[in-house]
Formats: sequence, structure tokens, C-alpha cells
Amino acid sequence: MAEAMSMDERADELERKKSEELDVLITKSSLYNMMDGELGPLGMGFGLTQKTGKHFLIGDDPRLPAMPAKPTLVDFFKYRTNGANHVIQSATHALKAGMSEKTILACLLHDIAVDMFIKSDHGYWAAAMIEPYVDEEVTWAIKAHQALRFFPDDSVGYEYPQMYIDHFGADYVPDDYIKRDYEQFRNHKWYMTARLITLHDIYSFDYTAKVSLDPFIDIIGRNFRQPEEGLGFDNSPAAHIWRTIRRPTKYL
Ligand SMILES: [Fe+2]
Ligand SMILES: [Fe+2]
Repeated sequence: MAEAMSMDERADELERKKSEELDVLITKSSLYNMMDGELGPLGMGFGLTQKTGKHFLIGDDPRLPAMPAKPTLVDFFKYRTNGANHVIQSATHALKAGMSEKTILACLLHDIAVDMFIKSDHGYWAAAMIEPYVDEEVTWAIKAHQALRFFPDDSVGYEYPQMYIDHFGADYVPDDYIKRDYEQFRNHKWYMTARLITLHDIYSFDYTAKVSLDPFIDIIGRNFRQPEEGLGFDNSPAAHIWRTIRRPTKYL
């Protein structure tokens, strides 16, 4: 019986089994499936609700940590990352170097897309997530850091990361849009703010290192306009991104 099933059907069957252990049916969006090399959302078959007597999940995912009704940025760090070790280490590095609050905040938020959303074009995504809530310069710097990471700047001692050689190969060439954006960014008035992110972009990979958001709570308070309704339930142009991070498996 199992052999007669296609790869797709087997994957769907597995998801169905996992879903059966819960009180609700949980599907996967096209984006999740693309990450497994598949196209389209997970097809769980019509009539599944009648067959199982369950409904599709249309709210918070019971497998993920529960979030407060009106979540703050700190709540997203707490409940939607696995510690955000890297960005907290980077912000700590910037704090110890005596950087401005703007720069420290930029370091703290520069990879939040990686930590709680998506890796691909993470600088651009992070900028979109925070734009309504922070100083324009912070948004700009975070958007720019992704491209700047690929280009050395001798004037501040920033070298092309050895890690990128390991990760992508010595002959890797960034995409044209990254090169184009870099050319634009390097002449921008806020270039150095973005460059500072790359300078404090610390990859210690010591995941046992004790990091804490505590030193940054006040900086967040002063520099991040936390919406009263909770991040995601305000009416900002970025609210839906936060809602999706809160409820990534919501049916619609
Ligand atoms: Fe980054
Ligand atoms: Fe980073």
C-alpha cells in the first residue's frame, strides 16, 4: 500500500498523522513546502473535516509557545525565537563599544527576520517588519546590512567574512541586485550606521553563551514604538507580518 503512494501522498499522509494527534487539522503554506522543494500548499483532501470531525486551525498554533493577547517586541523575542543568541551578542558587542542607542537597536534587530521569519533576503524583510516602529535610520541600516556584508571596507577594518567563504565557496559572487544596492548604499548619508551593524555582527557560534535581553529593555522602550494594541494587531503596514509570525499555520 505504501509503495503505491507518490512522494507527495506520503508526505501528506505523514502530515495527516501528525495532525491527527492534535485536536485541529494543521496545514502547510506553499512557502513551507517550497522549502522542501515542493510546490503548492499541503493538500489534505476535501472532506477531511467531516472525516476526522476536526476543524482546520484558524488561530494560534497549539504546538508553539502561547503569546499574550497584546504582544510586545520582547514577547516576540521570548516566544518566537530560540533565544536570538546572535543578535543579542551583536547588540552586546555594540553596547560595550559605546555605540549610540540607535546603532545598538539596529544591531539587536538586524537579523530578526532570520530568527523568527525567513532567511532569504532577511535584511529587507527585517526592515519591512520594523519600519513603522523605529527611526528611519535604523530601518535603512538594517535593510542595507545584508548587502554590505559582502563588501569589505578597509577604512573601518571590515573584511569579507571568512564564514561566507566557508558557507558559499571562495568563488561566490553576490546577485546583481545586491551589487546594485551596495553601490547605492555606500554613498548614502547613513552608510556608516549600516556598516557598524556589519562590524558588530558577531558570529561566535557559542550557543551556550549566556545572553540576556535585560540590558536592552530600556533601549527598546525608548527607541521602539510599541503599539498599544499589540504588535500585529495595530493598523501599521507591517502588522500582518507580525501576525503571520505569531500564527504561521493559520488556515487563512
Ligand atoms: Fe544579517
Ligand atoms: Fe548578523
